[in-house]
Amino acid sequence: MTKAPAPSEIDWQNLGFNYMDLPYRFLAHYKDGQWDDGELTEDSTLHLNEGSPALHYGQADFEGLKAYRTKNGDIQLFRPDRNAARMQQSCERVLMPPFPTERFIAAVKAVVKANADYVPPYGTGGTLYLRPLMIGVGENIGVHPAPEYLFTVFAMPVGAYYKGGVKPTNFTTSYYDRAAPHGTGKSKVGGNYGGSLLPGDQAHKAGFSDVIYLDPATHTKIEEAGSANFFGITKNNEFVTPESDSILPSVTKYSLLYLAKHNLGLKTVEGDVYIDDLDRFVEAGAMGTAAVIAPIGGIEYQDQLHVFYSETEVGPVTQKLYDTLTGIQFGDLEAPEGWIQKVDL
Ligand SMILES: Cc1ncc(COP(=O)(O)O)c(C=O)c1O
Repeated sequence: MTKAPAPSEIDWQNLGFNYMDLPYRFLAHYKDGQWDDGELTEDSTLHLNEGSPALHYGQADFEGLKAYRTKNGDIQLFRPDRNAARMQQSCERVLMPPFPTERFIAAVKAVVKANADYVPPYGTGGTLYLRPLMIGVGENIGVHPAPEYLFTVFAMPVGAYYKGGVKPTNFTTSYYDRAAPHGTGKSKVGGNYGGSLLPGDQAHKAGFSDVIYLDPATHTKIEEAGSANFFGITKNNEFVTPESDSILPSVTKYSLLYLAKHNLGLKTVEGDVYIDDLDRFVEAGAMGTAAVIAPIGGIEYQDQLHVFYSETEVGPVTQKLYDTLTGIQFGDLEAPEGWIQKVDL
């Protein structure tokens, strides 16, 4: 196992999005109907029974959020209560015991504090990415919920998810679906991502940054942009994002819906986005914790590339949304009430 390099040896400007084995993570165990207190541990290897339902039947869910270094050296979290709530909803869908919000946030803060030297310096664009994970474990072989559960939060410093930073990239559509109409698309469960590996790989090999997934029932409406939600800006200055029960409810999406309306004065619309009606948009992008806002240059559909604003330049509204969101996340702009939680060091 290769441990993370010392913080002084890290090239903060060129981090990428890669696993790093940091000194500490949080681990709690659920047994006999309750969660134990959990603790910080230095062991990055989980020890599981071979019959664990997480391994066979996908009884697993996860979250992704970030800790941000501010100009004065503080560290802060962006809406961690939203991630806690979404994880509880994911747990409900695959019959796992929810981890309480207060305990979720305390665990995240404890991991940030213990690894504080790995939160990238302000101004590098880097953040500490946090990965809460819950898995069903223990002796089992039939398709049943697990007898025991593990909840862990581990972390790693990351840079931009889409290489090249805030520059447009092209997406393509796929034959494959990400989610089923009444399936698990709105839950952040592991199985949703296993099925996305092949279409994602095909898109990368064809030179695209990721896949635009269409609604699984009719294949006419945009649902997601890779591991991010989709938005478009119309000629009439509307911020439009798809609404569907098989889309992951993105914390970034709900934040941008608020900021687009209150800070940028745009009209916001959650509704159908037809793949054959992209002309209505003058800009488009993908939004998520990892991607932040990734401008979409164009979308390939039925062998035609539909270009929005430009394949090389970021559109003005997308840029403004990006600056507003990241300004709040890094503490340079005032946040709406309750969005920011400081980590006591
Ligand atoms: C499929 C999918 N859609 C959207 C998102 C964006 O969600 P969020 O903004 O909460 O990170 C993610 C990442 O969590 C995702 O995996």
